[in-house]
Amino acid sequence: MNKVDVLLGLQWGDEGKGKVVDVLTPRYDIIARFQGGPNAGHTLEFDNKKYVLRSIPSGIFQNGRENIIGNGVVLDPLLFMEEAKALEESGIDLKKLLKISRKAHLIMPTHRLLDAANESMKGKSKIGTTGKGIGPTYTDKISRNGLRVGDLEHDFANRYAQARDRHVAMLESMGCLSDFSELEAKWLDAVKYLLEYQLIDSEHYINRNLSEGKSVLCEGAQGTMLDIDFGSYPFVTSSNTITAGACVGLGVAPRKIGDVYGIFKAYCTRVGSGPFPTELFDEDGSKMRDIGHEYGAVTGRERRCGWIDLVALKYAVMINGVTKLIMMKSDVLDSFPTIKACVAYEIDGKVTDEFPYSIEEGTVKPIYKEFPGWQTPLSHLTRESQFPKEFSDYIKFLEEYLQTPIAIVSIGPDRTQTIVRSL
Ligand code: GDP
Ligand code: IMO
Ligand code: MG
Repeated sequence: MNKVDVLLGLQWGDEGKGKVVDVLTPRYDIIARFQGGPNAGHTLEFDNKKYVLRSIPSGIFQNGRENIIGNGVVLDPLLFMEEAKALEESGIDLKKLLKISRKAHLIMPTHRLLDAANESMKGKSKIGTTGKGIGPTYTDKISRNGLRVGDLEHDFANRYAQARDRHVAMLESMGCLSDFSELEAKWLDAVKYLLEYQLIDSEHYINRNLSEGKSVLCEGAQGTMLDIDFGSYPFVTSSNTITAGACVGLGVAPRKIGDVYGIFKAYCTRVGSGPFPTELFDEDGSKMRDIGHEYGAVTGRERRCGWIDLVALKYAVMINGVTKLIMMKSDVLDSFPTIKACVAYEIDGKVTDEFPYSIEEGTVKPIYKEFPGWQTPLSHLTRESQFPKEFSDYIKFLEEYLQTPIAIVSIGPDRTQTIVRSL
């Protein structure tokens, strides 16, 4: 039986997952999303075109591969319809390529209102969510009040009205109820559009395909430091973004997991609030943001930038059981005379390379190792043998520190700007 490979983010999201899933797609039969929802923004570039995917897996552009939205995902029919129609207009036969799990939970218009209400009640300690209703939808799932895609086929009008009325009462009690009738009408239209897609019992579908020898790549969303259990809680998302999330979010047994591709940027970014030990507030930080175009793919928000944090990265490698690393956006550091990497934290005067319980602002002092920059453009290179020595040395250091090989190095946003070292 084939194993299921997983590709996921090791930092705070936006590592470049979409690009690499697209590059790896021809090697697999099925590409599946297992958690998260339209809080994700996965960017792909090829043939001078750029696409941003939110709920749809990044395997839809190559070789007519099958794509699945798994049970662990939360799906907003309205945002899905906007995304899907744009793809259909660009000539993709999405209704043929995409299957959706009946067990995926639906994001309702009132979930978005609750997301905004929760944030405003938190005041200064707000999380800076994407406002897409992610937290309230997963809350309903766990508290056994959720509405699922499969409910569209079973007494939907009643189930929807019941869930909506519950939300309305909550919003009223928070003093946050506003008129959502227009949004609701659009959402209900989008629900009809969703029914034009193949709804499946994806756990059966995936396991059947595996036993027939088909191969599956799971596409993570967000990143390990945003994981609900192991991320910088409470400044996290509401799902398990780690490898274990792929088991739960698709119905794949742990022993069926094969390679785990852990993807990271050669530096580090974060959107929204929350601690970020290596964050830069100086010229180096703004240089990374400018050169790396570090603005949210969906929200356009400015991403906070900093040096790579190897303490957090080593932790992420451990939690996920990463077998192969993928380093992105190395080209963004081309012009830096010195590259820094955080190799340990100083906490209360003690030095550690073990990721602690809390990295709350002000408690952690990063300790850096410095490397000479390569100061030459990488983006046009086509083979590893062309790498400048300083860059090769940096890769070697990271591999030794993380005790894991770097299998792919990305040197630009385009599909072709990808150097496979070993797979
Ligand atoms: P994802 O959410 O993990 O899929 O990542 P995003 O799409 O949100 O953010 C990654 C951004 O970096 C996108 O704008 C990509 O086009 C871009 N990108 C990906 N790989 C590279 C790279 O190697 N170099 C540069 N300069 N940009 C890249
Ligand atoms: P991709 O898949 C970066 C962040 C938000 C916020 C926190 C909680 O593109 O890497 P949520 O809306 O999930 O309740 O927000 O998580 N966040 C992301 N940051 N990339 C993402 O996805 C993110 N999805 C959520 O900014 O801090
Ligand atoms: Mg993104």
